[in-house]
Amino acid sequence: MCDLVKWRALVLVLATAVLGLGSGAGVGEQSLREAARGSGLLIGTAVRPAQLSEAAYASTLAREFNTLEPEDALKWEVVHSERQSFDFSQADQIVDFASRHDTKVRGHTLVWHRQNSKWLTEGKYTSGELAEILEKHIRTVVGHYRGKIFAWDVVNEAFDELHPGQMRSTIWSDQPGIGLAGNGFTYIERCFRWAHEADPQALLFYNDAEAEVVNPKSDAIYAMVRDFRQRGVPIDGVGFQMHIANLHADVASISANIKRFTALAVQVHITEMDVALPVDSDGNARAEDLQTQANIYRQIATACVSHPGCTAIQTWGFTDKYSWIGSHSKKTQGAALLFDRNYRAKPATEALRSVLAAGRL
Ligand code: XIL
Repeated sequence: MCDLVKWRALVLVLATAVLGLGSGAGVGEQSLREAARGSGLLIGTAVRPAQLSEAAYASTLAREFNTLEPEDALKWEVVHSERQSFDFSQADQIVDFASRHDTKVRGHTLVWHRQNSKWLTEGKYTSGELAEILEKHIRTVVGHYRGKIFAWDVVNEAFDELHPGQMRSTIWSDQPGIGLAGNGFTYIERCFRWAHEADPQALLFYNDAEAEVVNPKSDAIYAMVRDFRQRGVPIDGVGFQMHIANLHADVASISANIKRFTALAVQVHITEMDVALPVDSDGNARAEDLQTQANIYRQIATACVSHPGCTAIQTWGFTDKYSWIGSHSKKTQGAALLFDRNYRAKPATEALRSVLAAGRL
């Protein structure tokens, strides 16, 4: 009798696992977030609040992901478009959605050279004034979401593309900067310290592009993170954006890079993954490219789950209906995400799901 009960329980567990019963995903499928449950890996996506009222958008989002990140809603031009006031309405919608769906929120981004407000970029402020403005921004935004946003991209893309190792020339670094121009990455340190004071529990990340592989740029970021760790500057992680074009990823080098960063006892989050494909004038990609794309998603996810310190995989949006790839590439590239324009899972979703379901390697 007892054996029969056990046997029935086993059948039920297997049926649930195989059929994804109760997941809302198609028959035979687990959702991504269900697949990630065993490993505890965060599976996230960038979110546009205006789309939350679209039923298919909201249901796919809630079903598939356990982490959300505002795509633009926390950038200066949205959250701090007037000097004297802050507008959290857009980002609050995402945070509310997340709390209703038991989903975490990453914050993006406090310090960047793009999508800043006009009053800021055209204001001709002194370094002293800019330091005050930036400190207030960081304290106010992080403070508003204290306890609600678990991790922040404090500084985004601060290293120079053309002169690796050097800081990008920006309003925050040296144009005129917050008073620390010529002092390497000291201005970044200042930002991390302000953010930490505003929410001591939040995990603080440095996020960048084209530093996913071992190269001069990631060497420079590595040197900064090592220095921060040695001196107790509050940094908890590094974000690898992972926007992949040309259907190519040097996975061995990405893996080696994840390895060396996590060896500094910081986490790595894959923060903005997409894999752009060539598309025709209707936005459609070739079947073989969709398979190659799936393979790239599989390889990057495998590189992440192979390192215990790699704790999140996020994509930069989830449906090809809404993706910055396309709007930024004159429509010759697109179809970069996990779900098609009708919210159907693409081969890439299946690939990612199977890696997540297999768990930590
Ligand atoms: C992009 C958004 O996806 C677009 O909606 C916006 O028009 C421009 O910015 N690296 C980043 C992201 O860190 O913030 C960028 O997001 C994509 C590149």
